[in-house]
Amino acid sequence: MTQPQAESRLTNLRVQLQEHAHRYYVLDDPLISDAEYDRLFRELLEIEERFPALMTADSPSQRVGGEPLAAFTEAVHVVPMLSLDNIFAAEELEGFEERIRRRLNSSEQLTWTAEPKMDGLAVELIYEHGLFVEGSTRGNGLVGENITANLRTVRNIPLRLLASDKNLPARLAVRGEVFLPRRDFAALNQQRAEQGEPLFANPRNAAAGSLRQLDPKATAARPLSFFVYGVADAVPCQTMAELFPWLQQLGLPVNPLIKFCRSLAEAEEHYRHLQQLRHELDYEIDGMVIKVASFALQERIGSTTRAPRWAVAWKFPALEAEAVMSGVEYQVGRTGAITPVAVLEPVSIGGAVVRRAALHNQDEIQRKGLRIGDTVLVRRAGDVIPEVVRPLIEHRSGNELAIVFPTDCPACGSALYKPDSEAVTRCCNPRCSAQQLQRIIWFAGKAGLDIEGLGPKNVEKLVAAKLLQDIPDIFCLNQAQLAQLDGWGDKSAERLLAAVKKAKQTTLARLLAALGIRHVGETTAELLANHFGDLAALMRTTTEKLLTVDGIGGQTAAALVEYFANNGNRELIARLIELGLSIPAAERKPLHGGPLHGMIFLFTGTLSNLSRTEAAERVQQLGGEAASGISKKVTHLVAGEKAGSKLKKAAEIGIVILNEQQFLRLIG
Ligand code: IVH
Repeated sequence: MTQPQAESRLTNLRVQLQEHAHRYYVLDDPLISDAEYDRLFRELLEIEERFPALMTADSPSQRVGGEPLAAFTEAVHVVPMLSLDNIFAAEELEGFEERIRRRLNSSEQLTWTAEPKMDGLAVELIYEHGLFVEGSTRGNGLVGENITANLRTVRNIPLRLLASDKNLPARLAVRGEVFLPRRDFAALNQQRAEQGEPLFANPRNAAAGSLRQLDPKATAARPLSFFVYGVADAVPCQTMAELFPWLQQLGLPVNPLIKFCRSLAEAEEHYRHLQQLRHELDYEIDGMVIKVASFALQERIGSTTRAPRWAVAWKFPALEAEAVMSGVEYQVGRTGAITPVAVLEPVSIGGAVVRRAALHNQDEIQRKGLRIGDTVLVRRAGDVIPEVVRPLIEHRSGNELAIVFPTDCPACGSALYKPDSEAVTRCCNPRCSAQQLQRIIWFAGKAGLDIEGLGPKNVEKLVAAKLLQDIPDIFCLNQAQLAQLDGWGDKSAERLLAAVKKAKQTTLARLLAALGIRHVGETTAELLANHFGDLAALMRTTTEKLLTVDGIGGQTAAALVEYFANNGNRELIARLIELGLSIPAAERKPLHGGPLHGMIFLFTGTLSNLSRTEAAERVQQLGGEAASGISKKVTHLVAGEKAGSKLKKAAEIGIVILNEQQFLRLIG
């Protein structure tokens, strides 16, 4: 490839990747598969590596994160980044409007925007002629930290605005909030707990911590996201109602829950709506921001040095409360992990009564310096389990007791074990009754085979009645025994048996998720099922092979190999199959429109890294086809060691010929 060829291919790839990233991260409407995106991305990286002179600031490769910084430099905000005044009740809206009217000295109709108040970190992004050139934190409002390299790694921040728009100002400073989705926050904290690192108190702290990493690669590894909520330069719009669609057209992500309102009553309605929706959202919001829509009026109303007078933050009721921690319980999970749970004197937080709160693990208890009898701060964030944030030392009487972590399993009495490298203490007895109970609950639950009528309560009941001792017993339940249970009858027994029967027809992905293997959740199970196709192949596999699967890391690979090496686990699986659990054979989904779509491969000679069957399967998985003999339809011939007549024939009819290494690179 010559430099001019590389240059034109790079331009083409960057446009394509930008377009696809925008569709994926901003519009949530991808056109191509992840694998195809990855293939384009890898091609970009390869060319840039060969021609470093052709690297540009807006290349999607910049999102991977460059070299670590020694320190952050200062970034001056040309227009100060102000804060917001807060209100806490609808009655305060009147005063807000009243103050505005007094300043305007008029009774003209006002219109508003009502916007979710994102609980993340405020940032400013500066675009020059559409190119992202600088990004910073709010800092003290006048001077923040230059975190450009880190902000480049936030997937939905456009590195170049999508516009040949004549109205695009030469310089455009936009402002918004960077946040960490709640799901990713939970996963991040779980990972930190397992590695013995201190936990982030909430998604906001996690986002702030992630953005202020000196190593942009560390930021890139966190799935941060961004929503724009304002501008700090002149724009070709008269009101916020015009601004948001304009920003969206430029490729900037705008929160879809922003509402344009003709009255404050309408804004109030939206507040109630957001308050209800709040716990279902994948990100935290802590209120709603109301802004006067017209820029001309905003200007006339003005700001104090601290906050604009034309906007207000209407906060949601606090999700934190004080409670007395009267004790600590230790729960045994399905993997044997011992989780300490705080027992609280009941307290109402955000409309729900909280009696228990997470303490995570021994290290966290120590780090927070908690004692039994402490008055503690409890936080309930959305649908996440409430957690103890910290003790309120000022309430201590001196009678508080140290928390002594047990040395033996509270359920089976066997000695607990805590590897030095992990924060988790475990019961290692596979026959531990508490673990078995949790494993059955998991297996039958939503993330597992999802057996209707076999929720945690009923599993506990059946275990107590000795009808269930281990997972396979689910498939041995019978009508007579069930119908005799307290509160059960023929009907409920029949219903459960029908659900159990239905659950026997399952898929490999579901079974894998149901087994409760460490680090194997629904997504990983799906990935494994797609890659391996059948259980036997997965059970035979090695750590090395697992590591070649996109999305499988070292911990997961080790956990899988360990799980399948265990005789008890192998027996469990064999027993399930014996009892009629059935998985359709070829579950592997060919990827329609995958990267090899339209290509037909023929293999000849001996391949050294994989068998011909495996190679053909991989091709099918990526959307291509495998041929059995040579014909004009074949597009690619992969020639292994000692390839013979087919290779000669292929060369004659002009088929693309690849050696094994080239083929492996093609399939990633
Ligand atoms: S407007 C001049 N809009 O709330 C107006 N702020 O408590 C200043 N925030 O520092 C900001 N969502 O980090 C605005 N839709 C939204 C917001 C929002 C979250 C944050 C922002 C600001 C803080 C003030």
